[in-house]
Order: sequence, then structure tokens, then C-alpha cells
Amino acid sequence: MELADLDALLGAEGQALLAGLPPYDEGTTLAVARRLRAAGHDPGLVATALTQARLRARALGRLGERAGRMYFTPDGLEQASRATVAAHRARRYEGAAGAEGLVADLCCGIGSDLAALASAAGGRVLGVDRDPVTAAVARANVTALQVDHVDVQCADVTGLALGGVTAAFVDPSRRGDGRRRFDPAAYSPPFDFVTELAARVPATGAKVAPGIPHAALPLAAEAEWVSERGDVLECALWFGPLAQPGVRRRATLLPSGATLVGDPARPVPPGPVRRYLLEPDGAVIRAGLVAEVAALTGGSLLDPTIAYIAADDPARTPFARCYEVRDTLPFQLKRLRALLRARGVGRLTIKKRGTAVEPSELRHRLDLSGDREATLVLTRVAGKQTALLVDPVPPVAQRSTSTT
Ligand SMILES: C[S@@+](CC[C@H](N)C(=O)[O-])C[C@H]1O[C@@H](n2cnc3c(N)ncnc32)[C@H](O)[C@@H]1O
Repeated sequence: MELADLDALLGAEGQALLAGLPPYDEGTTLAVARRLRAAGHDPGLVATALTQARLRARALGRLGERAGRMYFTPDGLEQASRATVAAHRARRYEGAAGAEGLVADLCCGIGSDLAALASAAGGRVLGVDRDPVTAAVARANVTALQVDHVDVQCADVTGLALGGVTAAFVDPSRRGDGRRRFDPAAYSPPFDFVTELAARVPATGAKVAPGIPHAALPLAAEAEWVSERGDVLECALWFGPLAQPGVRRRATLLPSGATLVGDPARPVPPGPVRRYLLEPDGAVIRAGLVAEVAALTGGSLLDPTIAYIAADDPARTPFARCYEVRDTLPFQLKRLRALLRARGVGRLTIKKRGTAVEPSELRHRLDLSGDREATLVLTRVAGKQTALLVDPVPPVAQRSTSTT
């Protein structure tokens, strides 16, 4: 989309066209386009409006019902923070703008974080993006969402003076040339910009990839890995007054907001298979806080290199999924096949960690038959390839926090 297309869409005819579109349905798009063109609408404007309708429909899952009022570019939507995560992150900025201050969202994209920050900051907020169309879309979105006290500038953030900025958030681009960039030095702006920004504006937060190596994390930052319904979405870095004193690693689970802090260097005792098997949430694993969950549950690690915890009691923590262990055997195809036949297992969920086994190939070789369903965990126990037949224990929805 060009700037002129967005301007046309925001004009009276564009708005009427967009508002009058039927609910988006891929199958009827061509017919709708034909009808609108036949009614005398400009073909370019019709195409822009239909593209917005498609992007709005696609954005629903990520941004909720407000997506129906927003504007998008395909790239901007792809990179926009989920509304739930943006709202969680924005809570750290509550009141950060105050009467005189200014909160800056540097690299605001189409404005998902910007809108959340503006709701939380309680004062003036500035969004900046170097791409003119993206910045214009962000501007259209703050208007559409009726978010007050927000300005949007089109500029390269690396050249900004930052005068009057009292708190900052930066979400660098992690895509370029159609690829994801895993190396923080290849982000745009590069990761060094984040640490330099934190030196200039102490109340700084940043969003980085959840796979960021721990060695790349600045010593002064609190790093928070966030997952939603088990999907690890991001790592947020918090500096200065936005960080919780004394905390360096945190795992937060959405939508509950259950949050765990602790020490990634804490040792975890090794131990044998016990009655229950705990599988920590991905945010806990990425944050290096498996030992904290083991401590909370009185558990031990089946293998020093694998994030499975053995425990005597069912987990009373939201930070791990719990399974009851029914059978344990060395991983040998013949023995496993015999056991599954004896149990009448015809449908098998296979979970694996620390083994090269390919689940679909294994399922084929097991040649299952029977009415029962089972969960098989393939992993190492003290270095030995082991198969565990387990039953999921219903999750515990409770908040729990551990502090160092
Ligand atoms: C990951 S997106 C931001 C998404 C945003 N937080 C949201 O939730 O909608 C990153 C944005 O940074 C912008 N960007 C990259 N390098 C920049 C730079 N040096 N100055 C300003 N903007 C930049 C890109 O144009 C892109 O829109």
C-alpha cells in the first residue's frame, strides 16, 4: 500500500466503502470487487478496501475485536505484538508519562504496542517508525482507536535527540529480506541501540526474540520470557526503574499472568523416574528457571540436560504440565510395541526431548491397534533412552510466584 492509497481509504468514499463491505469471505471477494467496480467505485480504492478487510480478518486472533477498526500493512500486521502481550508489557509503564513526561515507542510499527502504552502511560506518548506508510498507518490507528495524547513521527530512531523522553520502549525489526533475523546484531535497529538507549533513558523496555542467547543479555536488565497458552512469544528486557530490583530472570504465563522469578544458576538435583512427570512451560525453560519449578514441586531432573522434572506429588503450579507415569521401560521398539498392544492403545500422542526419534516414523513402526488413547514420552533418564507411558493430569489454574 502506498501513502496515497491509505489517504484515499481514510477519505469519505474510502470509509463508506470499507464500512459497507460484507463480512470478509475469501470465496466472495472477486464477486464483491466486481459489484463495487460496476457501481462506479475506483478500482484501486476497491482493491485497497478489500485488502484491508482481509488483513482485519487475519488480525482478529492477534489483536481481538479492535482489529475491525484498525488499518494494516501485511508486514505491519505480521510484526505487531499480540494485544494481550502488549497490554501485559504496557503495565510496566503505568503513569510513566506523568504530567510533564513523554513515553516514546521507538519502532512503533502499525501501533499495537503504541495503543497499549498510551492507555497505560497516563500522559503524552510518541510513536516513531522510519517507514512512511507504517507511520501513517500507526497514526490512523491511534485515531481509529480514539487513543488520546499520541503523536506519530516518521524518522530513523537512531538519529533522534530524545529530548524530554522519560521512558522508552523499543521493538526492533527482526525481519529483513523476507527472513527472520536471529542474531541480535542484525535487528533493525541493531541490539546495541537498545543498550545505548537504556544508558540515555534509564526507564527503557525492549522486546527481543525469545531465543536470544542468555550471554547476549545485558547484566543490568531484567529479562522476562512471556508465553501465552504454552506458546513462547517473546523476551522483554527491562532497564532502570522498569525492572524489579534484584530480579534478572522471569517467566510470565498469559492469560493468567502467573509469574516466576529466580536464578538460572540454581542447581537442580538429579533423580529417577517418580510417580509424576512435570513438563515446564516453554517460558520457564527459556528463562532457565526449571530449577525453580523443581524447588516449588520438590522435584528432581530425569537428566541434567533435559527439562523434565520427576515428582512424587501432582504439580500444584501453573508453570508445568503434569503427567502421571503409568509405565517406564528402556526404549526398545519390540518392548514398546508389546506394551502398547497389551494396553490396547490405538492412538498415541508422542512427546520427545533429548532423542532423535521421528514420531511419525515411530508411530508407523509401532503398527498400533486398539481403542485406547495414550501419551508416550521419549526422553533420556540419566543418559539412557527411556520410554514413559503417561496420563495427563488436569492443569492447576493458580497463581504462584517465587522470588530469590
Ligand atoms: C517489530 S516492528 C514493531 C511492531 C510494533 N511494536 C507493534 O506492535 O505494532 C518494528 C518496526 O521498526 C521499524 N524500524 C526498523 N528500524 C528502524 C529504525 N532505525 N528507525 C525507526 N524505525 C525502524 C520498522 O519499520 C518496523 O515497523
